[in-house]
Amino acid sequence: MYMAEGKEIRPAKRGLTGKIRVPGDKSVSHRSVMFSAIAKGQVHVRNFLEAADCLSTAACMRALGAGVERQADGSLLVTGVGLHGLKEPQGVLDAGNSGTTLRLLLGILAAQPFFSALTGDASLSRRPMGRVVEPLTRMGAAIRGRGSDRFLPLAVLPHEGSLRAMDYESPVASAQVKSAVLLAGLYAERATCLTEPALSRDHTERMLSAFGARIEREGTKVTIEPADELFAPEEICVPGDISSAAYWLVAASLIEGSDIILQDVGVNPTRTGILDVLSDMGANITICSERESGGEALADIRVRSAALRGASFGGEIIPRLIDEIPILAVAALFADGDTVISGAAELRVKETDRLAAVTAELNRFAPGAVEAKEDGMVIHGGRTLSPASCRTYDDHRMAMSLAVAGAVGEGVTLDAPSCVNISYPSFYQTLDGLVQ
Ligand code: S3P
Repeated sequence: MYMAEGKEIRPAKRGLTGKIRVPGDKSVSHRSVMFSAIAKGQVHVRNFLEAADCLSTAACMRALGAGVERQADGSLLVTGVGLHGLKEPQGVLDAGNSGTTLRLLLGILAAQPFFSALTGDASLSRRPMGRVVEPLTRMGAAIRGRGSDRFLPLAVLPHEGSLRAMDYESPVASAQVKSAVLLAGLYAERATCLTEPALSRDHTERMLSAFGARIEREGTKVTIEPADELFAPEEICVPGDISSAAYWLVAASLIEGSDIILQDVGVNPTRTGILDVLSDMGANITICSERESGGEALADIRVRSAALRGASFGGEIIPRLIDEIPILAVAALFADGDTVISGAAELRVKETDRLAAVTAELNRFAPGAVEAKEDGMVIHGGRTLSPASCRTYDDHRMAMSLAVAGAVGEGVTLDAPSCVNISYPSFYQTLDGLVQ
């Protein structure tokens, strides 16, 4: 949905009630298309997230020769070409706004015997790619980019034969870095290992293993063996995205009289940090009917409104809630007392510098309520709020977090609202239906 002008969100008139099904998980959707494209066979991907980021991945895999077609029943049919069946793309591969598309794809392209060029939008062009280029270069790949941090556009030179295996200590807890190295490891001469400082989301490990790759984890060290081929299952069912459910977890907690059930949400333990923090803050959240599908845990989540209090969090929990920090900051703004977030410097290299953006925009509701720190924020909750006009920085998670802040508080006008299309195109319809 394109919105030329600002979007006004009015204060909620009533509590949130009923059942909500959030769209498919973004991380799992990317991986389902990418891994199926380099596997043998045909895969029906159900509940694929049809949002701009995942459509960028689908377009890139199509440009590389895989079949990616939307079926009448809404599923995506991916026809894989095998590990060595990709073809040289005619044009430049465009990752749009998506760091996951770009960084994971680099792991695959690093090992291909053809040339490829990659680009993306203004936001992605400002994000560091050196974190992926550096380990892939150690494995023998030749990747060229702009400046010291290998900014876009990038060129990947042809590589003949296997990549070098390595034992890599990643300086960042990043699933994108880990996944790029593991994908390149499929094409290495022997086992490749990566250790990260804290465990990041493990969808790649789970899905590659379901595709027959030999992959093992011990603590934060993952080892992958080279593979001759990957074999896709007939079907992948993508769970609901807990990062999208996050907006309703917080809105329902804060808006009095709310009682909702979020259905079929992915509750992979590497993603559920938000549930832990909200529970610490006093939220009333119950996990119901937990089950498994395709190696990923799913559940229904019931949320009832509750009085929240401030909490401190940082360290190893950060990768488990990295994308939820903007909405957790909103929860903290309405909570009683202070919240201290630390160890979250990674937020400075997301779609925008989210520490700076969250601080600037939440302070428009209550001047001085948020202080930015080098690696986090201090949020003084419980202040009196005013209506505000906010900037989204064209960052989907900023837009949705600010929309919830407006609905819970005194209303908000967003300057550039349509960036929600990156991960949650129906967000405003759902919000309007729930609160007006
Ligand atoms: C993602 C990993 C995270 C996350 C991003 C999706 C993934 O990024 O912020 O939205 O699907 O692997 P980093 O790996 O850079 O932390």
